Amino acid sequence: MACGIPPFSLCVTWRFGCRQNLQLLFFLFYLSHMVSGHIRYSVPEEMKKGSLIGNVAQDLGLDLKRLRSGRARIVTGESIQYTELKTDKGTLVVKERIDREQLCGDVTPCSFSFEVILENPMELHQITVEITDINDHSPTFKRDAIQFEISEIANTGARFSLASAEDPDVGVNGLKEYILTENDNFVLKQNSNADGKKYAEMVLQKPLDRETNPNLSLKLIAVDGGTPQRSGTVNIEITVLDVNDNAPVFNQSVYKATVMENAPRDTYVTTVNASDADFGSNSIVTYYFSDPNSGLGNLFIVDEKSGVILITGSIDYEKDKKYELRIDAKDQGGLTDSSKVIIEVTDVNDNAPTISVMSFTSPVSEDSPPGTTIGIINVKDLDSGDNGQVNCRIEQNAPFKIKSNLRNYYTLVTDTVLDRESVSEYNITVVATDAGMPPLSTTRTFNLKVSDVNDNAPVFSLSVYSAFIAENNSPGFSVLTLRAKDPDENQNA
Ligand SMILES: *[C@@H]1O[C@H](CO)[C@@H](O)[C@H](O)[C@H]1NC(C)=O
Repeated sequence: MACGIPPFSLCVTWRFGCRQNLQLLFFLFYLSHMVSGHIRYSVPEEMKKGSLIGNVAQDLGLDLKRLRSGRARIVTGESIQYTELKTDKGTLVVKERIDREQLCGDVTPCSFSFEVILENPMELHQITVEITDINDHSPTFKRDAIQFEISEIANTGARFSLASAEDPDVGVNGLKEYILTENDNFVLKQNSNADGKKYAEMVLQKPLDRETNPNLSLKLIAVDGGTPQRSGTVNIEITVLDVNDNAPVFNQSVYKATVMENAPRDTYVTTVNASDADFGSNSIVTYYFSDPNSGLGNLFIVDEKSGVILITGSIDYEKDKKYELRIDAKDQGGLTDSSKVIIEVTDVNDNAPTISVMSFTSPVSEDSPPGTTIGIINVKDLDSGDNGQVNCRIEQNAPFKIKSNLRNYYTLVTDTVLDRESVSEYNITVVATDAGMPPLSTTRTFNLKVSDVNDNAPVFSLSVYSAFIAENNSPGFSVLTLRAKDPDENQNA
């Protein structure tokens, strides 16, 4: 019941009529012609009880004695009596808290009126108190937070409307504007409804990127124009939704691994790993050989999910010392990256030396001088390093030597003078051994015959033979047998 300043009598009549105080109504009606003054005060709302509104006695030109003798008092139809007349001082003071917003809402100006009555003679004075707004309310948002889910491919210029704030104060004390906390992506656009109510929108000015910032927390601040200024805040929580805008990236462009040759199937080689900055299914990466026709798929396998590379075929150092695999990583959206895996094969001593005979002469004459070459052999070992380092020796304690002049070539020579008459045949075993761990060796036996030289004269078994013969022997009678030996052979014997 904002009374404002309607014609006085009407206001009073109505108000007191409500209370059915007929006697008073009549009384006031009678007195209505006697109004001698109408004063107006203007005070801010929310003044403390007892605060001075105005000096009524002075303003009405009445002295304090008259106030007392006339039993000056306030008459009002309001259920709440906001003011009190201090007859001892002639002042009007605040009796009850005056809340402009409660009294008038957003109607301006806001005032209430009442009458001061005096008797003997009767006088009636109307007093209107205008209540001016003080900035006693902050702008407030109904919600604590505003949530948005915005795709990271949202276009710039996209608008997102924000909750509006309410401020019951009026005029300059009312809602003035909105402020958005400093951020890279959004700017604030302020608008007014047809009814003058202010609201704001967030406009995307720089694209969002979930990978750098998956969540944004902003604050929308509503401020009024009062002094001191009051404000209200609401949090804006933005979840950036992922789009497959990132390709997988290998954590190494080249991976290196070593494997032993002859390593069994399922031997671990290495693990490749690519990460994808996207989220959820957009970040799932699978691995596969870039070139499925390279033939390396027979030797190695890459696990599609884990990137683990295992051996599936037989690795032979003697065939390939190094393999280069090209591996691609692909995400669900088809974006890819590629990398290289260089696999070095380590040699294993899996090949024994081989001995090939370049030349071999048999028999050898027994008068050959020491150092006579009997044969030339070549040794080979397919392994590398120590595994392929070959050394040759002769097995038994024989009068021969093996010498190397050229790498991997050996000559077999006599070490002493031979004597067919003592040893006519040799089985020479040559052992070729590599330096692997454990070493592997090969043996080869050469059968060497010693040929005769007439180096022995025949020798009689006795130097003197004596015999007795009886007389009268017939011719051809055997007297004695001479025996001579020659250790040489054939004609030489
Ligand atoms: C040499 O080897 C051959 C064949 O094994 C054998 O018949 C011969 O008796 C051997 N000779 C010597 C002197 O050991």
